[in-house]
Amino acid sequence: MIPGDGIGPEVTSAVLRVLEAAEAPVEWTTRHAGIAALEDGSPDVLPDETVDEVLRCGVALKGPCTTPVGKGFSSVNVQLRKRLNMYAAVRPVRSLNGVPTRFENVDLVIIRENTEGLYSGAENRVTDDVVISMKVATESSCKRISHWGFRYATQRARRKLTVFHKANIMKMSDGLFLDAAQQVHQREYPNIEFQQMIIDAGCMKLVQDPSQFDVLLLENLYGDVVSDLCAGLVGGLGVVPGANIGDECAVFEAVHGSAPDIAGKGVANPLALLMSAVMMLNYLAAERSDQRAAECAERIKAAYNRALEDNQKTRDLGGELGTESFADAVIERL
Ligand code: NAI
Ligand code: MG
Repeated sequence: MIPGDGIGPEVTSAVLRVLEAAEAPVEWTTRHAGIAALEDGSPDVLPDETVDEVLRCGVALKGPCTTPVGKGFSSVNVQLRKRLNMYAAVRPVRSLNGVPTRFENVDLVIIRENTEGLYSGAENRVTDDVVISMKVATESSCKRISHWGFRYATQRARRKLTVFHKANIMKMSDGLFLDAAQQVHQREYPNIEFQQMIIDAGCMKLVQDPSQFDVLLLENLYGDVVSDLCAGLVGGLGVVPGANIGDECAVFEAVHGSAPDIAGKGVANPLALLMSAVMMLNYLAAERSDQRAAECAERIKAAYNRALEDNQKTRDLGGELGTESFADAVIERL
């Protein structure tokens, strides 16, 4: 468990209570990252012992970590993904009963390349008034995420995969990403429908009618931006979970950040992190044939769905419950 900072400690402790009440087959150890690591006395924002512990366990559940804007340390979230080579971020975006929004039956999965792109953080000052920011694309990483995306789509019986890109302008970097996806599709996954779209038009189509999309495959920055856009289609950042997955380990975290505007008030919605924990249990069930984890995931899912249907909601969803009282409502329904 990496509690994070801002609303992180609040939502992680609420989620832990639900998991304990559901008798999740998980033994926890806690390690820190970001501001919480500094406060814990570490000289590093991402201590080696945190990275090592995630590798030892193979999985982690993580709260959000603040990244200073325009100055200060580089994102620990990005560092963690890179150091552990968790190259695929997967973010299922689904409508929930009891959370009415503009669209019904939204069912999208965002797959984001998690290690390069404009997120390389490679920035240079060229002259006093010019900086450059490098967008990195490597053929092997583009192919790796394409394989991952098509394999995911196949395993989950999804019908279609769409790549959003800007290869008309970034002909080399986005061109490489698009070519890789096209090649992997043609050679290995011809049965999945493949579509490519320039990202600005794609965003317009997404907000007009999300049902025309299924699995979305994007490079790092586009995946970041489009994840929050899609969260807005189903009720906001309080209801969209995520996972960062590599070949050696996986870290489960919500799409949202540390929400400094509401931190410490006990009003944050713990559901996105709870859903991430459900993804973690399902991952354990699949990777380690742990039937108890699968059953536990189903129970928690049924309980939070029932809570929402009974109009037990936090403020971001138009309800009145706080972080802990929403967790109580879920626990009552386990
Ligand atoms: P944010 O996602 O923290 O918040 C955006 C808006 O959504 C705010 O109004 C916030 O109150 C609301 N919100 C977010 N999560 C919520 C929840 N669980 N329940 C109710 N309302 C919620 O994005 P923001 O403000 O742009 O970033 C804040 C910090 O978080 C930054 O330092 C950023 O770098 C960091 N961040 C960290 C991430 C991570 O740890 N993986 C991901 C995204 C941002
Ligand atoms: Mg983001």
